[in-house]
Amino acid sequence: MGRPLVCLCLTGRTLEEDVAIAKKYQNYIDVVELRVDWLEEDERLKIRDFPSMVGIPTLLTIRRIVDGGRYEEGESSRTMLFARALAFADSDPMNNFAYVDFEEDFNVPSLQDAALAFGTKIIRSFHDMKNPVKNIAARLEKMRTTGYEIPKIACMPHNLSDVTELFKEASQLPEGEQILIAMGSYGLPSRILAERMHSYLTFTSPAELSANLAELGQIDPITLSEMYHFKNITKDTTIYGITGFPLKVTSSPKIHNAAYPKEGMDAVFIPFKADTVEEAKAFADLIGIKGFSITIPHKEKIIGQLDSVEPMVTAIGACNTAVHEKAGWKGYNTDCIGFEKALQEFTGLKTLEGKKVSIIGAGGASKAVVYAIYNLGAKACVFNRTVSKAKAIADIYGFEYASLGPESIDKIKAYSDIIVQTTSKGMGSTEASNSDNDPIYFYDFEGTEMVTDIVYEPEVTPVMARAKAAGCKVDNGYNMLRYQGEAQFKLYKGVYGSK
Ligand code: ATR
Repeated sequence: MGRPLVCLCLTGRTLEEDVAIAKKYQNYIDVVELRVDWLEEDERLKIRDFPSMVGIPTLLTIRRIVDGGRYEEGESSRTMLFARALAFADSDPMNNFAYVDFEEDFNVPSLQDAALAFGTKIIRSFHDMKNPVKNIAARLEKMRTTGYEIPKIACMPHNLSDVTELFKEASQLPEGEQILIAMGSYGLPSRILAERMHSYLTFTSPAELSANLAELGQIDPITLSEMYHFKNITKDTTIYGITGFPLKVTSSPKIHNAAYPKEGMDAVFIPFKADTVEEAKAFADLIGIKGFSITIPHKEKIIGQLDSVEPMVTAIGACNTAVHEKAGWKGYNTDCIGFEKALQEFTGLKTLEGKKVSIIGAGGASKAVVYAIYNLGAKACVFNRTVSKAKAIADIYGFEYASLGPESIDKIKAYSDIIVQTTSKGMGSTEASNSDNDPIYFYDFEGTEMVTDIVYEPEVTPVMARAKAAGCKVDNGYNMLRYQGEAQFKLYKGVYGSK
């Protein structure tokens, strides 16, 4: 079959609004879905005109509340609306609805006959807005009552394992003869990899209306097309990705996907959110992912899932890159290389011999930082809320450690050439520094410290803003991200196209 079609779901209040939005996205889509249940009541009476107004093949859907829609009136008025929309077929098929969505339990033979007679394809749908659906093949078989309908199952996975199961079942199905969607944030891979789902189409939402269907987890067609290069994904496309939880903020897909065309690589980089490392690895194995990045909170636990790791991973105790090499899954840590390079650039120093550094935090990210600081020859003190974690890291390198609070002000002063912030405290906070978003709120900057935060969202974290106001040179984690990404890219490229 050809690639899966891209369908834009229209949930505007008027037909004009829907047409305007559809036109904006027309270069990125193949089909629009008119969600009649979102239209104002008066507008619903005019839907017969919509296909000719929009000029794009249109799927007619009137979704009931039980299936996740907003149509409240009874089945007889819904039937009337369908009849009104499908009647008076035009000799130009573009003026008729190309598709109509009838739910599995909606059986009105006269409407089915009308659809058939007028060349409107029936999508026979089943939705479970709360749970995953198992035994897809048998279920689809039951739905394919007439042989000329496209069965659709949209369900809500509870976790990544449910999505993996769906991909597994889908791989046994004929390509493009059904529509399969795993909804919600866990289901995102099913939308981007609709081709691997053997799905006839994938649904997208316009950015302007995305709040209407937020819980479904649809992405907008421009992102699908320009970031994920959806139309180029085939069964030969090499898949890479990133896993973590909750995996809300990640710029990795943007960075990696942008690089593939420049490098002449047929590849795609997808986010796959996982509660556990076991689920992440099982998904990667089933999909045939060749390399993936690992972020919070899985950088430590992933090590147990891999066949081997480079020595740096063992030393740091954290792994942010897994690559599927000939001998199996191998773990790397590029955070360390990325941080080292970014810090050299920020300080303008090749080595940090003679420098004293405060490292704030002792989590997974801190471990790579401590290793890099040690590598660069500095002396350091690790500060952490949980002191035992600071001790455990510091002891490996012969560094000092201390608690993270006002009692440690003098210690920070003693290690204040460079201050590196590695905790998640200021992440996403745009407020002025306070005890909730600034892990060293109690420390007054002299103005001579060089302060780097490994967080890059927001661009200026609360502690950075405070340091900058005091005259300090500051940097965020963007360059670390960029350089670690470049190192990752090289590793991924090494297994590109391998079987
Ligand atoms: P990462 O892998 O990104 O480092 P992590 O392992 O969860 O994530 O570590 C988070 C770091 O932020 C830890 O140093 C943590 O301190 P604890 O070890 O005491 O948990 C620190 N951190 C998170 N929230 C914090 C808070 N509210 N106050 C102080 N430190 C905090």
